[in-house]
Amino acid sequence: DNVKSSVVSVDGPAAAGKTTTSLAVAEIFDMKYLESGRAYRVLAYEALRSGVDPTDPKKMVALCSKISRGDRVSELLGLNRYTAGELRSLAVGRTVSKVAGIAELRRRVTNSVHIWAAGNRRSIVEGRDIGTVVFPTAVPKFYLTASAETRARRRLAQEGSGSLKEVFEDVVRRDRADTTRSASPLVPASDAIIIDTTELSIEQVVDRMAEACGASGLA
Ligand code: DC
Repeated sequence: DNVKSSVVSVDGPAAAGKTTTSLAVAEIFDMKYLESGRAYRVLAYEALRSGVDPTDPKKMVALCSKISRGDRVSELLGLNRYTAGELRSLAVGRTVSKVAGIAELRRRVTNSVHIWAAGNRRSIVEGRDIGTVVFPTAVPKFYLTASAETRARRRLAQEGSGSLKEVFEDVVRRDRADTTRSASPLVPASDAIIIDTTELSIEQVVDRMAEACGASGLA
């Protein structure tokens, strides 16, 4: 049984609280944690840095090959080298949804996530398509959401830049890009536990997640 690796998935729109809660659950159940969005941010960051058109699938796939040349898993997943400032800049935030719409890049990121997870006994993976596409057999699957206004307020409190209106518009724009793209659009898996975090504290969300993990046999 110790060769089998189990995965818990956490999906949902931007600023629904996925990272904070996933890290807490990872700690409780001694799971490795991966933020899959980093890979798309790495691709967006490198495209901006090297002047590659982020909407050109051919050029972006070539750039992806270059990034993954050494160790394709850790480089593409952004496990080395990158600072939060680099990957969370406004410019990267604006570019990343274009990059995330390229199907071949999604295939490569998915492949790297699979390799990463196979090396762990248990892991919790956060993203947009983890329970639907990357790990359809994940147990349990979580889908975290919250009203757009709440998510904008949280993002503003966390990052402190821009007005509420600007941040709100950015959240709405990203939601639209994530849910309407043809390659793996953001949608809850049919067997996902949907948690609306609008009226919940971080602790309350973590409690619900931990309870579901316990009920699924994680200890
Ligand atoms: O979670 P995040 O904000 O760091 O994600 C960055 C972008 O990557 C976001 O616009 C959606 C995209 N993404 C995705 O398409 N699929 C994932 N599994 C994770 C992120």
